[in-house]
Amino acid sequence: MVDAEHGRRADEGSGPGHLQQHHQVVRTRHALVPPVPRVAVPRRRGLLCRIAQHLGVLARSGRERSGGTCPVGHAHRHRRRSLARCPAPNDTTERRSAPMKVAWIGLGNMGGPMAGNLVAAGYTVTGYDPSEQAQRSAAEHGVSVATVLAEAVAGADVVFTMLPNGRLVSSVLLDADGVLDHLPAGALVVDSSTIDIATARELHEAVTGRGFRFLDAPVSGGVFGAAAGTLTFMVGGTGENLEAARPLIEVLAGRVFHAGGPGAGQSAKLANNMMLAINTAGLAEGATLADRLGLDPAVFYQIAEVSSGSSWALKNWYPSPGVVETAAVNHDFNGGFAVSLMRKDVGLALEAGAGAGLDLPYASRALADLDRLIEAGWSGKDTASMVKLVDGTLPDPGSTADATAD
Ligand SMILES: NC(=O)c1ccc[n+]([C@@H]2O[C@H](COP(=O)([O-])OP(=O)(O)OC[C@H]3O[C@@H](n4cnc5c(N)ncnc54)[C@H](O)[C@@H]3O)[C@@H](O)[C@H]2O)c1
Repeated sequence: MVDAEHGRRADEGSGPGHLQQHHQVVRTRHALVPPVPRVAVPRRRGLLCRIAQHLGVLARSGRERSGGTCPVGHAHRHRRRSLARCPAPNDTTERRSAPMKVAWIGLGNMGGPMAGNLVAAGYTVTGYDPSEQAQRSAAEHGVSVATVLAEAVAGADVVFTMLPNGRLVSSVLLDADGVLDHLPAGALVVDSSTIDIATARELHEAVTGRGFRFLDAPVSGGVFGAAAGTLTFMVGGTGENLEAARPLIEVLAGRVFHAGGPGAGQSAKLANNMMLAINTAGLAEGATLADRLGLDPAVFYQIAEVSSGSSWALKNWYPSPGVVETAAVNHDFNGGFAVSLMRKDVGLALEAGAGAGLDLPYASRALADLDRLIEAGWSGKDTASMVKLVDGTLPDPGSTADATAD
């Protein structure tokens, strides 16, 4: 289900020429790679366990976390792509002979499981996050957690940042005693956070100006895509830098798109998330209407899923309990994609639209709805809670503890 979103519709879009051209390259490349046999591990169960565990729902043993046994006796967990890289028993060229050292800054809902997937694929990953909860969760994913930033990035070949906003990304990278002050010259910095386009472009200039390499590489696919390693990556920067990062990105991604030059990844991400916010508002209204008209939510879901009302939001976030297992409504809208983050993305999309001379009334309405949720104390809840604005179940402002707001 999660796979349904990942870029497949983008293939059919009418985007800029370079983007379409790249889609063809991606399709060709995928077509040439023979399918890799799946291991006999119940992948979906493993995925749900990882997500539930990340959300603090389950406490799992190390054996469960390992996700399965390598058929040739290696210690790492196998997913589809890591199995493809698993060397034969007598292969002495295993990555361990030339390990790529990775630093991961920001181990939250997305960064934690993403860093964990790199560990599971055999990479050495040292993470940094000031939040003790994020540190604990990342450690459970096998990430070595550093107590200070400098320790995490020392000697790293590649640094990923997965942070809430552009101001933080700039400060973590560029400030005195920040990432660049401790990183070996020439190292590659990949920012997978969703940030504004102007900051992404400034970072390309500032980071390369100090002798490092940079990509803006935001992602789509949510926490389930992060845990499953099926995210869509939309990358801005040089093709050369993308190729350098590709072995790592492919562990994390279902699809990888080179959107264009500096900032193009963020441009694609903001347009995408603006559509997601509008779709989620439409889903909230459609699902509530179907409910009030007396339809069984599970039956209506099945109808809409294969009809013209379908969307990624519908397939992953259907807002009636028990219909879609990935939906945050099943756990009181905790975890997932926070209202505050979606508000940030729609705000950035509207800013970008204003800069391009565009009036975007549906996005403006979605922004106002997200603000209403925030005023009601729901900024840390999942974006699918937009349904509460329609079905009348949003508690009065002040009556909800917003413990998870960032
Ligand atoms: N959650 C989603 O579904 C989703 C999907 C796609 C993209 N994104 C984007 O990914 C980014 C991260 O989202 P998330 O949901 O993981 O957010 P999150 O709030 O769960 O994680 C962010 C983490 O950054 C950490 N952090 C804050 N300041 C830091 C610093 N100075 N150094 C190191 N770590 C620091 C926080 O402690 C937190 O653990 C955001 O830009 C978001 O827009 C999120």
